[in-house]
Amino acid sequence: MGQIFACENQDGIAVVKFDVPGEQMNTWTEGAIADFAVTLASLEKEKSAYKGVIFISGKASNFHAGANLNMLGAEKDLAEFRKGCDEFNAMFVRLENLGIPTVAAINGPCMGGGYEFALTMTARIATDSKRTTIGLPECNVGVIPGGGGTQRLPRLIGYPALDFIPRGAVLPAGKALEAGMIDRVIPEGENLLAKAKEFLLEIVAGAAGLKRVKPDLSALDTALEAAKKNVLKATRGRAIPAPMLALKAMSEGLKVPIEQGLKIETDCFIEALKAPESKGTINTFFLKTLSDKPQAMIPKGFEPKPIRKYGVLGFGTMGRGIIINILTRTKLPVVVKDVAGALEPGMAFVRKILEGMAAKNRLKDPVDSLMALVKPVAEWTDDFKDVDIVIEAVFEDPAIKDQVYKELCPVVPKDCILATNTSSLPVDKLSGSVLHPERFIGAHFFSPVWMMDLLEIIRGKATSDATVNNMLAVCAALGKRPVVCNDNPGFVVNAMLFPYFIKSFELLAEGVAMEKIDAAMMKFGLPVGPIRLTDEVGIDVSYLVLTKSLGMVPPVALENIYKAGRYGRNKNGKGFYTQEGGPDPEALPLINPDNKQKEYSVTELQDMLFTPFIKTGYELLQKKVVADPRAIDIGAIWGVGFPSDKGGPMKWADLIGLSEKLYGKKFYK
Ligand code: NAI
Repeated sequence: MGQIFACENQDGIAVVKFDVPGEQMNTWTEGAIADFAVTLASLEKEKSAYKGVIFISGKASNFHAGANLNMLGAEKDLAEFRKGCDEFNAMFVRLENLGIPTVAAINGPCMGGGYEFALTMTARIATDSKRTTIGLPECNVGVIPGGGGTQRLPRLIGYPALDFIPRGAVLPAGKALEAGMIDRVIPEGENLLAKAKEFLLEIVAGAAGLKRVKPDLSALDTALEAAKKNVLKATRGRAIPAPMLALKAMSEGLKVPIEQGLKIETDCFIEALKAPESKGTINTFFLKTLSDKPQAMIPKGFEPKPIRKYGVLGFGTMGRGIIINILTRTKLPVVVKDVAGALEPGMAFVRKILEGMAAKNRLKDPVDSLMALVKPVAEWTDDFKDVDIVIEAVFEDPAIKDQVYKELCPVVPKDCILATNTSSLPVDKLSGSVLHPERFIGAHFFSPVWMMDLLEIIRGKATSDATVNNMLAVCAALGKRPVVCNDNPGFVVNAMLFPYFIKSFELLAEGVAMEKIDAAMMKFGLPVGPIRLTDEVGIDVSYLVLTKSLGMVPPVALENIYKAGRYGRNKNGKGFYTQEGGPDPEALPLINPDNKQKEYSVTELQDMLFTPFIKTGYELLQKKVVADPRAIDIGAIWGVGFPSDKGGPMKWADLIGLSEKLYGKKFYK
């Protein structure tokens, strides 16, 4: 037997323990596949010595996580890869036809190629541990199940598979049992191997009560149509390759014998892999993993400053959001300062949001106990004496912010972290009025704070490494995803957005219809188009940030509409669009004074609007605002809603050849 799969004869049962060394999760590495082949061959040879086989993980709380994404994401020779797929599938078919009962004993994640492995066995038993999750999440990482999942799961559980697979659904043990994906669940803490042996012996004796009725798939086409509609609804009408190809594999493969079905699945799998969206989605998965744990970015040996109490300045939109975030994530006391008249409405808003969360069972603590942690004040009271961090979110006016820092610094401890939530003022300029500016840093939250994942952490010239590291620890405590950057007009996210907005306004003045511009970018995958987004956020805000903070020349369309007092649909009811949603006829002569008419195809519009993202991204790297294109992509995906199947703008530019066309090289190394 090999290194990874170790078989032992225990009372006439072959117990095969598998454990990929040096990895947290078992995955199908090249070594694991080769070793499985050896194990399978010897089981085939010696099967008469056994009543059956149990496959169990040697890792404490992980069955098998499936394909190795590093392997999947790498460039490969597709003809070779197809050969590998065929061989892999052939092994699963041999295991399926071993001739003696086989049982998967599942503890922890059993996903993708790991669950496909379990699907080839006679039956599956799992613990009800919180870590036990079962399913085929491949479509969420840009591929489709390629180890028989699209063929075996619907043949086992019927129509629900048509919903689970394109969604990449992963179920806890209880739900997987209900769906028929596994056959038995035991409480966590019981001896899984002993229970699996009992189960296997029951199967041998024909007493396990396995329900193996062939599901009725006579209305397959109708069910597939419904599944396709659901997929398109979830992607706002975009036919992303992976889920569509998973449906194709089921649509064609379930009508023929499984051996042929497996070949169809492999064709679809390879087609999915060829699509750039596959590499884009895998990149997003890695970016998510990278930014999931901001504390991992803190150098080893650095002890973050303990945070026991927060201070927030400004109880407006952002101050309220930040407080909700602090309460729900840290349960620490917060003192908030604003003018007296702002305190009541601020508290009422925080309570309303918390109550909404409680009503949806999303809050572990009673609303009253969280509200009791907030101390609203209108003066510099002693409450500021022991704060460990203050987040400032007062008006976006440098004079006001300067004044606030001058008052704040003498009343807080001198090692208190001071973070500004400014969205556009240079951190370096603001730091001028801060005592001990090495503790001053930008912390740019996104609205609504309790829902948006991203936090831009902006290092000014004076900011110390310790402050950046402490802010990363705060970012982790608040459950945010960080983009750490150097000070720069618009930091990363707004710096990327504004050139894109400018291009969209220029297109308006050329005579392109606003709804066509917005529709093109929604088709590209953004949650909302640039014109509608400006309307929603506030035309005045965009205009002022663009002209005052970023020092850019406003395009005619924006200039005219701002000067006409149209500040946005949500601001004063007047913007680009009417309240009913269509283009506002009053806005048209302002944005297109010469009444021009211009038509571009959807692809042309997308190209013209995507390119400014990339040009800015290139500049951010050249200016060393960020060290790595990954930071830009994290900012765009979690700050702007850039489509995850494209892997971020910089990755997408690499994948479609734009970076090479513009700059002669890829952004990602
Ligand atoms: P807001 O106008 O809703 O709230 C600002 C609050 O600051 C008001 O309640 C005001 O009374 C208070 N304030 C003014 N002067 C003060 C002082 N001297 N002491 C204490 N409180 C004072 O503004 P919003 O939208 O919350 O913005 C705050 C900051 O956050 C700004 O720097 C803004 O650029 C930034 N920001 C805003 C985002 C948004 O989506 N609204 C997103 C990210 C950052």
